[in-house]
Amino acid sequence: MALRAALSLPSALSVHKEGKASVSFRESIHFVSTATAKDCRKRDLSVGTIRAQTATAAPSVDEATSQQKKTLRKGTVIVTGASSGLGLATAKALADTGEWHVIMACRNFLKAEKAAKSVGIVKENYTVMHLDLASLDSIRQFADTFRRSGRPLDVLVCNAAVYLPTAKAPTFTAEGFELSVGTNHLGHFLLARLLLDDLKQSDFRTKRLIIVGSITGNTNTLAGNVPPKANLGDLRGLSGGLNGVNSSPMIDGGEFDGAKAYKDSKVCNMLTMQEFHRRYHEETGITFASLYPGCIATTGLFREHIPLFRLLFPPFQKYITKGYVSEEEAGKRLAQVVSDPSLEKSGVYWSWNNNSSSFENQLSKEASDAEKARKLWEVSEKLVGLA
Ligand SMILES: NC(=O)c1ccc[n+]([C@@H]2O[C@H](COP(=O)([O-])OP(=O)(O)OC[C@H]3O[C@@H](n4cnc5c(N)ncnc54)[C@H](OP(=O)(O)O)[C@@H]3O)[C@@H](O)[C@H]2O)c1
Repeated sequence: MALRAALSLPSALSVHKEGKASVSFRESIHFVSTATAKDCRKRDLSVGTIRAQTATAAPSVDEATSQQKKTLRKGTVIVTGASSGLGLATAKALADTGEWHVIMACRNFLKAEKAAKSVGIVKENYTVMHLDLASLDSIRQFADTFRRSGRPLDVLVCNAAVYLPTAKAPTFTAEGFELSVGTNHLGHFLLARLLLDDLKQSDFRTKRLIIVGSITGNTNTLAGNVPPKANLGDLRGLSGGLNGVNSSPMIDGGEFDGAKAYKDSKVCNMLTMQEFHRRYHEETGITFASLYPGCIATTGLFREHIPLFRLLFPPFQKYITKGYVSEEEAGKRLAQVVSDPSLEKSGVYWSWNNNSSSFENQLSKEASDAEKARKLWEVSEKLVGLA
């Protein structure tokens, strides 16, 4: 039974159903303001040192200072859903370089703190900030809190996701959107739009916006062909508000199916990345990218499955499909997309071969449909209150 579930791959995934954050917004702000004040002072000090050095070098002091600042200061990267799995492994990989300060944007503040400690992320290399992507108010508050921290923003990683393949009926976000698409797509869409101006202003050596995709949304792959397949149709359910009352809870207007809702949300993630690229790359110099990190069979996405499934799924992925990657390896891959100069190209969906070398992968017909991406953008901005 469990093996059959494993064989049906993406539909066999599940996600835990934890409650929302247990720490209030005010507590989060307090934490952020104390942690960041110290870090900002440090940053000011190091910039001061640079000024002192370059002041003696005469004519182009400003130019030299800004060049040195670019290379010497730490980058700031926001990673959503950094309390477990891929997000946590990425936070760890980036923080360990000493080159990045990671903002762990998480719905469960205490869980994120414990997770950071458990993997040994050094205190001065991360800050936890509260973000619940299933609430548009929370997303707006997060953007405000981040700005008030005084940090620059260099990279935003939209990683968090929920996956509800066994749900019999839809559940909804605070604003009444079906939960998988509401969290994975609409929540990240609003967050990315709100923080775009901050990214534009970055003077770091690279500025990037990364939205994690998945093979399961790509019907040009074996995994993407396991039913139910992703299909956004003509977006009639999304246009109707995705609320299951006046409209279907599914983007294409069909019956609720939790596994399909997740795959649809991943198509939205990949279309959104490309639409950002078309609209903003040339004007801003921001790199927009997506990726499939590999099948990380041990993450929280599987935590509600029966123990036998959890036992068999990783070896099945390791030895039969050979698509398995450890959380650590997947974290290094996403960290590469954040920081590696060789992955600077914009508009790319990255994947890795068996030797762990990155390559530019092909998206399915639907996941690369420019007209659908434009329509998705326009409908989404109405739903999240941007138009
Ligand atoms: N696992 C795979 O094989 C695989 C393959 C391809 C792509 N991916 C993608 O990788 C990404 C990470 O997934 P994962 O495998 O690492 O799963 P995971 O361990 O379950 O991580 C998901 C993260 O999202 C967070 N999250 C869920 N709902 C949220 C909300 N409303 N607001 C803020 N954060 C929320 C979770 O927070 P809590 O800790 O509070 O639950 C958790 O930190 C997803 O985008 C997924 O689609 C995974």
